[in-house]
Amino acid sequence: MALMVLNTSFKGLFFMTSCTLIILKVTFFFITFIPSTSKLTIHDHDYLHFDMKPPVDQSAKSFNPDILTHSQYEDVVRILHEEQPTSTHVDGSNGGGNSPEVTGPPWQRGSGQHSMVNTSQAVVHDGGQPSAGSSKPSKKGRDLNNIEVYHDKDIFLENYEQMNKSLKIYIYPHQKTDPFANVLLPDTRSSPGGNYASESFFKISLSSSHFITHDPAEADLFFLPFSIASMRHDKRIGAGGIKNFIKDYISTIKREYPFWNRTGGADHFYVACHSIGRTAMDKAPEVRINAIQVVCSSSYFLQGYNAHKDASIPQIWPRPGVPPIRHPSEREMLAFYAGAMNSRVRESLVRTWMNDTEISVHQKRLKTPYSNSLLGSKFCIHAKGFEVNTARIGDAIYYGCVPVVLADHYDLPFADILDWSRFSVVVSTEDIPFLKKILKEIVDSDKYVKLQKNVLKVQNHFQWHRKPIDFDTFYMVMYELWVRRSSIRIRLFNE
Ligand SMILES: *[C@@H]1O[C@H](CO)[C@@H](O)[C@H](O)[C@H]1NC(C)=O
Ligand SMILES: *[C@@H]1O[C@H](CO)[C@@H](O)[C@H](O)[C@H]1NC(C)=O
Ligand SMILES: *[C@@H]1O[C@H](CO)[C@@H](O)[C@H](O)[C@H]1NC(C)=O
Ligand SMILES: *[C@@H]1O[C@H](CO)[C@@H](O)[C@H](O)[C@H]1NC(C)=O
Repeated sequence: MALMVLNTSFKGLFFMTSCTLIILKVTFFFITFIPSTSKLTIHDHDYLHFDMKPPVDQSAKSFNPDILTHSQYEDVVRILHEEQPTSTHVDGSNGGGNSPEVTGPPWQRGSGQHSMVNTSQAVVHDGGQPSAGSSKPSKKGRDLNNIEVYHDKDIFLENYEQMNKSLKIYIYPHQKTDPFANVLLPDTRSSPGGNYASESFFKISLSSSHFITHDPAEADLFFLPFSIASMRHDKRIGAGGIKNFIKDYISTIKREYPFWNRTGGADHFYVACHSIGRTAMDKAPEVRINAIQVVCSSSYFLQGYNAHKDASIPQIWPRPGVPPIRHPSEREMLAFYAGAMNSRVRESLVRTWMNDTEISVHQKRLKTPYSNSLLGSKFCIHAKGFEVNTARIGDAIYYGCVPVVLADHYDLPFADILDWSRFSVVVSTEDIPFLKKILKEIVDSDKYVKLQKNVLKVQNHFQWHRKPIDFDTFYMVMYELWVRRSSIRIRLFNE
């Protein structure tokens, strides 16, 4: 069925291509007309960012990447981070964040009709609909409490509305009988759980959303539906086979469909949450260079991720229902951290604060429920492990605990929409010895109360639903894709 639809549209598309297919590239507000006789390939994304781009140097450690070979460069990066090589990555590397949580009594996890304040919907639905079609945001009637978590709420809402109306995604179709259906199709039978749930939730949400089109001609973007986490668990592929699988998959897409070659993949995207995804494109460098990579491991220090082209997706442990509420005054512990010791940052954190009575740090899973600590602390520390990302930021936000981000070079999720300084504290890993001073100053001023309130306002952006709900993580990712769609196609018939 899907195939028939496809064949028909293909014919139409080839016909139009032979007439003249011109791709217009839109960069910000400037439209560049690029003359072309038939087809035009655009590499919208900066080639120079590939591989050897000198890292953004935030930590004042410097070296000259020009004199290094590729593998030397990787070594240097690794040594700078004093991490173990990627090949040692294992599931659950993020430590405590991978413990399945039973979060409080069932009435807290259920439909939430119990007194829980309307936190999950509080931010944007609060009379904040933009006036349709207005090009100038109206500043009138802006509720200061509401704009606080956004860089510019009006612009966000206006873009969001347009995105919601116009964005169209084409998913490469695969049959249920495909031997790799488990990797390529959304698994709608079971609810995804665990550390890498963001990967499967995205696919499930997308396939049930109104963004889908079966007509490639009207698609803004093409989704490569492979799942890295599923490949990893498939004995036929495994961690060692992922690179070849992707290489073969892209070759097939290139050969059997006309879409990839038109843009070199620039209007294609994939979603990956497992950290192994970072090297998964090694044998398909075009994906890394041109396609939009929506990944959890979004470090702009490391090769393979380009913040302006790719997008960060939050790693979220799914928790249904309305988040529990705990007032700041009842959060007695200043700060909390628990997790495996798999990075220098974590070691330094635990070594520095292990005997402290106000900052509670643990180098393994707690015997008491994780949720008690998240609800009982003012700040919840996210310390990078193998990668910059863990599920802890999502955990903290769910439990209304202000996240402390100890992960240098982390391109934080939705950072172009959300002003992270309004609901989190980003601390350089070099400032671990000053952590208590930094956090106490925030508590002693009014700032903590504001931060904590704002955490509740962003909760809806950090939640998955099987059927996506406006402004949830799925819609936020769609927004990020929409602002990154780099080309529009306009067909000119016999100009
Ligand atoms: C929930 O929100 C509605 C409308 O914004 C408001 O009238 C109501 O009082 C809120 N409920 C609670 C428990 O705060
Ligand atoms: C987004 O689109 C869906 C489907 O058309 C619609 O139900 C929803 O209200 C829209 N949201 C906004 C904020 O426009
Ligand atoms: C796309 O280009 C590749 C060469 O890079 C070629 O092998 C393939 O056949 C092309 N695909 C189509 C559909 O023309
Ligand atoms: C913490 O206490 C233990 C046991 O008293 C001691 O060995 C260790 O040096 C202390 N660590 C710090 C950072 O004070």
